[in-house]
Amino acid sequence: MSPVQDRSFTLGIAVATILAIGVVVFVLQPRSHGEVRVPSETPAPVGKPIPKGTAIGNTGCMSAACHGGPAAESLAGKFDANTWEGSGTCWNARDPHARAYSLLTDKPDRPVRATARHIMAGLHSTIPATEDVRCLACHSNPSLATHGTAEPRLVSLRSEGVGCESCHGNASGWLREHTTWKSDNHAEYASTGMTPLFDIGDRSMTCLGCHVGAPADPARGYPVRDMNHDMIAAGHPRLDFDFAEFHRELPKHWQEKERTPTGQKPRGAAFDARLWVVGRVAQAETACKLLADRAARASANDPRTPWPELAEFNCAACHHDLPQPWRSEPQTRGERPLGSLRWQTIWPITESPEYGAIQPVVTMMQRARPAGFGVVGPVAQQSAKNLGEVRHNLVAMSDADLVRRARLGFPATFSEHAEWDTAGQILWGLAALDRARLLNRPVTEFDRAFDAVRRRDWAAAKPALDKLIGKP
Ligand code: HEC
Ligand code: HEC
Ligand code: HEC
Ligand code: HEC
Repeated sequence: MSPVQDRSFTLGIAVATILAIGVVVFVLQPRSHGEVRVPSETPAPVGKPIPKGTAIGNTGCMSAACHGGPAAESLAGKFDANTWEGSGTCWNARDPHARAYSLLTDKPDRPVRATARHIMAGLHSTIPATEDVRCLACHSNPSLATHGTAEPRLVSLRSEGVGCESCHGNASGWLREHTTWKSDNHAEYASTGMTPLFDIGDRSMTCLGCHVGAPADPARGYPVRDMNHDMIAAGHPRLDFDFAEFHRELPKHWQEKERTPTGQKPRGAAFDARLWVVGRVAQAETACKLLADRAARASANDPRTPWPELAEFNCAACHHDLPQPWRSEPQTRGERPLGSLRWQTIWPITESPEYGAIQPVVTMMQRARPAGFGVVGPVAQQSAKNLGEVRHNLVAMSDADLVRRARLGFPATFSEHAEWDTAGQILWGLAALDRARLLNRPVTEFDRAFDAVRRRDWAAAKPALDKLIGKP
């Protein structure tokens, strides 16, 4: 099978999995070597401050008195106020990110469809993936990614994969400080370099930085993270992401709650719906930022940035010959001008109430001849800014308003086009709303709607979804 066939096959499985939501639990694969790593030395010698924003490595978090304690409870899916004591142990045993670096080596920690060696050969690279900044940027702590041979200490830090600090921020500025914090507080996090993951908007942007891509971030020492068509054609899987769904799949090493000054409040019933709505907007925002960055690099004649970047467009637009599920897709054109390609990244946000914020980019990209980078860059930048504001509002919105908003996303979404990527988005959204207990069920209605969307039978899907979701 070619990589594309493999990927579509996987997509099929992914959707089948979503169909069985509520029954299927993410199958947690223990790592082949699941032992707990015990720190051999104290991470921060007293009296010798480490400069702000340097990486300390997983071991700095993992002493028995910190986050390397027993994790039997959280591994069994039980969380309480003491979960933090075993967070690192839990991560080490279960988290897919622990093996991210190994995927770049010749001994990947899980079976792969395309090996790093195969991908690098396709890219005509003369260096291995473990030395290529493009790959390290997503498969290790991005702040540790550099090009070329590295000293052993750096290699050893990278080999921890997408470690604690890849999400929580480099620890030198907060390692000691955070032990005394009593509640969620943006100011403390910002001044010390800890990522405010308690904020669902910041959390989604953190994940999306690697699961969609992101421009370089000099303040944090991050290089650009860019999954382009060259890498996909060389065999790298296309990055399919839905924040709510991937968040569900991630083995939890924390107790999900709001840490307010007055106490530890559990998240409201609508939490999963909020993850979905916020995640869709954040994904569109991320796509706009990446597009603007690609435009800037293309205008600076970066030899590795072609224009237009093919990965910006819907794969089925060019690959008519791709195997199922894409092969039998006639490309419905909708409002697009003749000869134009559908913008790939529209799928996270298609015509939801947030559509206005992204429409200028869509209009510009879906021309018979896509606009040049000089025009695209500033428009995409502005859309990213607008979407950022929408994201902040959605994070702060009351549960009742949020639920209304989540329901609004649907009818418009599926009135678009009978197309695989859109169907995937709807299924992920339905699954999130179901977890938030927002759907009118009998279960048969649910199955009917899921099945119609999966078959992309929109005539049957529309009334079924209307029934299921109810009037906003
Ligand atoms: C923008 C972030 C990003 C970049 C850049 C990136 N990867 Fe990945 N890579 C991922 C993610 C995310 C996955 C997991 C995909 C999934 O399961 O959805 C992955 C999966 C893989 C896999 C497993 C493939 C399989 O068949 O399952 C390999 C091997 C791999 N990457 C190698 C590379 C190499 C080599 C490079 C550099 C040329 C690279 N990656 C660049 C994010 C990235
Ligand atoms: C893929 C991203 C990611 C990685 C990697 C990661 N975390 Fe987390 N972690 C999170 C998220 C998201 C939360 C939830 C934050 C919140 O609720 O405020 C969290 C929460 C925590 C908490 C709070 C637990 C609680 O119940 O109060 C601790 C402690 C923690 N992580 C430690 C670690 C350690 C140690 C590592 C590395 C061994 C690690 N994390 C790696 C994303 C990550
Ligand atoms: C620094 C880059 C990076 C960040 C940040 C990141 N990821 Fe990942 N993620 C990866 C890579 C690389 C893989 C592939 C590892 C593998 O398949 O073993 C991956 C794999 C996964 C997987 C398993 C996918 C599969 O197909 O099995 C899930 C789920 C996931 N990430 C969710 C998240 C969530 C949720 C967040 C944010 C809280 C996040 N990731 C943040 C790079 C990242
Ligand atoms: C504008 C047209 C266009 C779009 C859109 C496009 N591709 Fe391609 N693709 C091509 C062309 C032309 C080639 C052959 C040249 C090359 O390898 O770059 C190709 C090659 C490939 C290959 C290698 C095929 C082989 O047999 O070796 C894969 C895999 C691939 N594309 C996947 C994708 C995916 C996934 C997407 C969506 C993210 C996509 N393409 C979007 C035009 C496109």
